Amino acid sequence: MIFYFSGTGNSLHVAREISNYLGDKLIFIPDETSKSETTLNYDIKDGDYLGFVFPVHAWGPPMIVLEFINRLDLAGHIPYVFSVVTCGEEEGKTTDILRRSLEKKSLPLSSAFTLVMPNSYILSYDVESEEVINSKLLSADEKIKDICKILENREVNRYQIISGSFAYPKSKVINNFFREYALDNKHFNVDENCNGCGLCEEICPIHSIHVNGKPHWKGACTMCLACLNRCPTHAIQYDKKTVNKGRYVHPDIR
Ligand SMILES: Cc1cc2nc3c(=O)[nH]c(=O)nc-3n(C[C@H](O)[C@H](O)[C@H](O)COP(=O)(O)O)c2cc1C
Repeated sequence: MIFYFSGTGNSLHVAREISNYLGDKLIFIPDETSKSETTLNYDIKDGDYLGFVFPVHAWGPPMIVLEFINRLDLAGHIPYVFSVVTCGEEEGKTTDILRRSLEKKSLPLSSAFTLVMPNSYILSYDVESEEVINSKLLSADEKIKDICKILENREVNRYQIISGSFAYPKSKVINNFFREYALDNKHFNVDENCNGCGLCEEICPIHSIHVNGKPHWKGACTMCLACLNRCPTHAIQYDKKTVNKGRYVHPDIR
């Protein structure tokens, strides 16, 4: 089984490609974490695939991915575990954080990959140029083919990680700060371009948006930026930071 999380479609695309290649089931992590059971059980036996595909959020895994692993119970089975972390540039120590969380469940991470894709983080930077986006998408698709072959052969200790510079402080200090202070929705707002279409409510992975004429954010936020990037009229803003910026959505879900 392949478990994935995705806001703007990059990780969804990767997870779909791998799932099609391996002929394995694809499961959206937020659909699982929304269940009321404390532990989440799956029919995964020794040697079966257990894959995780998700984006880097501030040099760490999204909290929802760690919460899912924390609740995972495979009744002592040891599958072939792999991860693909998608990012705009570098993942820091994201895979290390994932590996440690899996080890607490006695699940050894057999192989792990960083995949550079177009950057969805448009709060500090603008969206990348079309040329950069297309070139990243093309090379990611080539890399996905290599990853699929490695996974097909269940190769172990294949770690192809792009940590980047100052990986430890980024994944420790900045990531802690991000988890503590950035995971709220009070900065999102909507401008006069909103036509109340309701797409943001439909796509919010944790159902934290309610559209009543206009969107209203309530409760938790994963900061996946799906609402911001995928709004068809670009009406959703983050404070005033995104007013004159472009938006990114993977072509598969455009
Ligand atoms: C809140 C947030 C934080 C991010 N942090 C990083 C980062 O630390 N390093 C990086 O290279 N990309 C970062 N990105 C970019 C995404 O990891 C990247 O675009 C990813 O492929 C998006 O996947 P998705 O389309 O499946 O959501 C960040 C994106 C978001 C929304």
